[in-house]
Amino acid sequence: MSRAAISEATFAAGIPSMHNPTSFPDRVAVLGCDGFIGHHLVERLLSMDGVEVVGWDRELRRTRHLLSNPRFHFRQADLASDPSALERDIASVDAVVNLAALCNPSLYGSQTLDVIRSNFTDVEPVVRFCAQAGVKLVHLSTSEVFGRTLRSWLPDQASALPRELDVMDEDRTPFLLGPLSSTRWSYACAKQLAERMIEAWGRERGLEWTIVRPFNFIGPGMDYLPGHDGEGVPRVLACFLKALIDREPMKLVDGGRARRTFLHISEAVDGLLRILARRRDTSCQVFHLGKADNETDIRELAVSMRSIWARLRQDPSILEIPLQDVSSEEFYGPGYDDSDRRIPCMNKAQTILDWTPTLSLEGALTLTLGDYHLRYPENKR
Ligand code: UGA
Repeated sequence: MSRAAISEATFAAGIPSMHNPTSFPDRVAVLGCDGFIGHHLVERLLSMDGVEVVGWDRELRRTRHLLSNPRFHFRQADLASDPSALERDIASVDAVVNLAALCNPSLYGSQTLDVIRSNFTDVEPVVRFCAQAGVKLVHLSTSEVFGRTLRSWLPDQASALPRELDVMDEDRTPFLLGPLSSTRWSYACAKQLAERMIEAWGRERGLEWTIVRPFNFIGPGMDYLPGHDGEGVPRVLACFLKALIDREPMKLVDGGRARRTFLHISEAVDGLLRILARRRDTSCQVFHLGKADNETDIRELAVSMRSIWARLRQDPSILEIPLQDVSSEEFYGPGYDDSDRRIPCMNKAQTILDWTPTLSLEGALTLTLGDYHLRYPENKR
């Protein structure tokens, strides 16, 4: 066991058994290291003895404080901007975690070409360089590859189909996307094709890969808050936080009926580290990282966030912030469609990774909002 492996074993809730030996990579490339998931992963990797991180990102916002760490080697660049440097960096590591992607639904219909480029075209050289150098690739895909549930396509959505039908299994559940006019699915389609390309590189050219599909991770440093540290329409957690901080209506798209399961980023990163530690067992496998019983619809999410925020701010008047219904066309523009429900099957992650997240939705939201409460004090813009 390397130094890094020993230290990895100490972070994990369960000590890996002797029948499932782990060997943690000494040097990891994190592509998209400054993003939401990326910066949490890099922080955790650098907290492990001896692990070196080569980070690529076009932005340097969330990881700036790590630059002084001699084990963090940061390249501020797009993946496509310097293929030779990317190839050299990939050849110098034991594993690559690819998180670089545009993954915000407000872009899928407005910057479709960029979305397809970042989620498919830019992935191809990463896959090729990993295969050529014999380096393990952990690629972050999305729960959105499933599109909508089978139930949602049936004439009577209220049919008495059992809940189990909506549970998304890594290796059995079909991908059900909408027609071309629903531009929303450009992202899911690009992610699907990237998954198929990676699988084929494994089968035909020996690439060692793992695909991870995140199911709505939440935590500090998600996206940006419009008007505070960015412009545009971020994902729902940031939209609702901006509304709460600025005391504006919380907008519910198409009634806020869509359902999601949320997982706190700290537990998600645990899952990723376990994948890196179990190279052999995770090879050529897809894993869902999510928490099935943390399910809520978006309307309930707004209500929960509002009451947690009122508690944190110790201000009951926050409970009066209104919920406002808006159509998806008004909110996102034409071509928007939505995943009605996303429940991850968790058996594979439990069995192979020995990973079972425990934080409830209330707990995950409280931790997340607690961080924003400290970072965005009242009246500070
Ligand atoms: C997005 C990405 O498309 C996925 O790839 C990614 O895996 C996922 O986020 C994630 O975070 O894991 P989605 O869950 O649809 O998928 O993204 P959000 O923008 O967070 O939307 C969630 C729901 O909230 C949608 O139904 C949306 O219409 C709704 N919403 C969003 C509101 O009702 N109000 C808002 O202000 C914003």
